[in-house]
Amino acid sequence: MSSPAPRYASWTHGKLPLPELAELKRRGEKIVMVTAYDAPSARLADAAGVELILVGDSAAMVVLGHDSTVPASMDEMLMLTRAATRGAKRPLVVADMPFGSFQVSDELALENAIRFVKDGSADAVKVEGAGPTLSRVRAIVEAGIPVMGHIGLTPQSATALGGFKAQGRTAEQARKLVADARKLEAAGCFALVLEAVPAAVAAEVSRTLAIPTIGIGAGRECDGQVLVWHDLLGLYEGHSPRFVKRYADVGTEIRRALEAYAEEVRSGRFPEDQHTYAMPEEELEAFFAAR
Ligand code: KIV
Repeated sequence: MSSPAPRYASWTHGKLPLPELAELKRRGEKIVMVTAYDAPSARLADAAGVELILVGDSAAMVVLGHDSTVPASMDEMLMLTRAATRGAKRPLVVADMPFGSFQVSDELALENAIRFVKDGSADAVKVEGAGPTLSRVRAIVEAGIPVMGHIGLTPQSATALGGFKAQGRTAEQARKLVADARKLEAAGCFALVLEAVPAAVAAEVSRTLAIPTIGIGAGRECDGQVLVWHDLLGLYEGHSPRFVKRYADVGTEIRRALEAYAEEVRSGRFPEDQHTYAMPEEELEAFFAAR
């Protein structure tokens, strides 16, 4: 699989250096992040030249079939992270800390972040929220693990937020978003996901921070964008938020292939000679003679 030429001098071998992300922001070049949950997907994202792969807890919905991200467990996220990191050689892989893995204490948050790095080979972790999350961020960053923040619509607390809906749509909420973004930057985050917030508010956050903002439903003035793999490729059949753009309809193509396969099996057209193994004539004769 041939990859596009690296966009930066320092990215000719191995991993994208993390500080390069802030450089991209300074140069006004957009950062591309996509979710991936297994090795082949991560390999394709790598070949497409994305900077960041997020092993999102959206896996709970798009891979594991739950109706929210809340049930994702550390063990499930670790298994998916290991798979994705095997496929991604150049992009930085960010593991999403699932609900319950960081809310209880700084100690638990750090323990789980270390599991992602040691056992999952993740390059960084992502945590949702501000408030108590700030001290989690500080604890993880102090241990040397890069942290990505996530504010706006934070799916792990969707119930408390009143559902999966846009955030920061009043002047007061917008001011709080900007203040939270600043606090997360001060706590040590290297980047910040802004989900489902008005474009004008995301633009203000992006202007205010030195670290890159990665938007999803946050307008084009963010420093980068992220989409969920299954949404982008037409593989998710559940509700699609307005910020999703489908770049392919892979689901229809997979179904077409499966129907063709089923039809050929049932009609006896598959497998053909080219898909089967032969054995030497004399072995075959000996086999039948011994029956
Ligand atoms: O879990 C996820 O995929 C995410 C992205 C939508 C940012 O958090």
